[in-house]
Amino acid sequence: MTDLSKLRACQSGPLTGRIVPPGDKSISHRSIMLGGIAQGRTIVRGLLEGEDVLATVAALRSLGATIVKQGDAWIIDGVGLENLREASDVLDMGNSGTSTRLLIGLLGARPMTSFFTGDASLRGRPMRRVIDPLSLMGASFSTREGGRLPLAVRGPTEAQAITYELPVASAQVKSAVLLAGLSALGETRVIERVPTRDHSERMLRAFGADLRVEKIPEGEVISVVGHPVLRGQTIEVPADISSAAFPMAASLLCEGSNVMLANVGMNERRAGIVESLLEMGASIEKTNERDICGEPVADLIVRGTGPLRGAVIPASRAPSMIDEYPALAMVAACAVGTSRFCGLSELRVKESDRLALVADGLTASGVRVEVEGDDLIIHGTGRPPAGGATIATALDHRIAMSFLVLGLATDEPIAVDDARPIATSFPGFTDLMRSLGAKIDEICV
Ligand code: S3P
Repeated sequence: MTDLSKLRACQSGPLTGRIVPPGDKSISHRSIMLGGIAQGRTIVRGLLEGEDVLATVAALRSLGATIVKQGDAWIIDGVGLENLREASDVLDMGNSGTSTRLLIGLLGARPMTSFFTGDASLRGRPMRRVIDPLSLMGASFSTREGGRLPLAVRGPTEAQAITYELPVASAQVKSAVLLAGLSALGETRVIERVPTRDHSERMLRAFGADLRVEKIPEGEVISVVGHPVLRGQTIEVPADISSAAFPMAASLLCEGSNVMLANVGMNERRAGIVESLLEMGASIEKTNERDICGEPVADLIVRGTGPLRGAVIPASRAPSMIDEYPALAMVAACAVGTSRFCGLSELRVKESDRLALVADGLTASGVRVEVEGDDLIIHGTGRPPAGGATIATALDHRIAMSFLVLGLATDEPIAVDDARPIATSFPGFTDLMRSLGAKIDEICV
């Protein structure tokens, strides 16, 4: 019997070809949310049709927006912020932390009650980081122990504008406060010391919000004025650099590869992975650099020129590549010398404890790994490890994809116990990788 949930990657020759990775997850969520609360029509092309974004689509529909797919475009007829209606049922966000935290911000500032739940991974993730600022704005919450889902939130009649300094470097928390600020009287300010992805700022402005970014010695202050008139937009979503990271890492691990990753979003607050790989000696050429809908985009040519060298990745770079550490760890495992990834506390509260799962999976694959505080230390030998492991993926799409990438280089295959979560962010991953020559197959049990 073939079990489609279990996949195995086997040593592959050079990868070659040109692919367009799927649409950016962060921009896709925001397109649906802002389109849904705007007045008029928003047209989105290149939307990521992964389960996470489809959870946001379902939520916005149940709040009153009309969202349909026509050909390759998603058409959103916005309900208008002030006309959002209370959902008649629990909003099931599946595996998606971004949908949950941003919608808690948006809905927690509206005079209505909303209920949120999700899968076992999401129900284990911390929500206090959005509950705290929303409570200051007047929302009241009922949650499970430790501020976890399922939760209920009741927004105030009129949300209170606040000035909020982010206690963690999180674009989701920043975005939740800014979205709540749309329903507040006056100006809501977020103080950000460490720069995180700024898609919300760029897109809110494009939809017509009165949003300013001011540099201060400690970082920046982002201010948004409540009760704007948001107007529907036409949006083209670039490919997700966080998804591109997997074929990128695979191409670097399979010697002789020559792969073009087309149309990849290169926002400087997202591109830390490219900077890190270049420091490790990778051959990544940026071509056709351009601007699409206010976001920098490029085609990347990645060549597998042989083993890279280990590197120290400073904690200050973490926000610009937070989702890419698992993929980078696979490259470091095959590099010459020791790599140290510093300051990864946020990695512990992703779809899984990624710090632990990466360390365990690499160890099982024959790599010498240490975790020191929040640092991950990987001792590479300059050649791929033995492999031969089955990795527990704990409902984490990026853990599954990372170890499948490593298995393309190891002597023995690497299997993942559950590949289904890959559909949350990278539908078509296996086919796209196979089109480049990667040997990934379903396991017969
Ligand atoms: C995201 C922000 C990041 C990232 C997530 C998407 C976003 O999370 O890990 O995949 O779209 O704002 P944090 O805000 O928790 O760092």
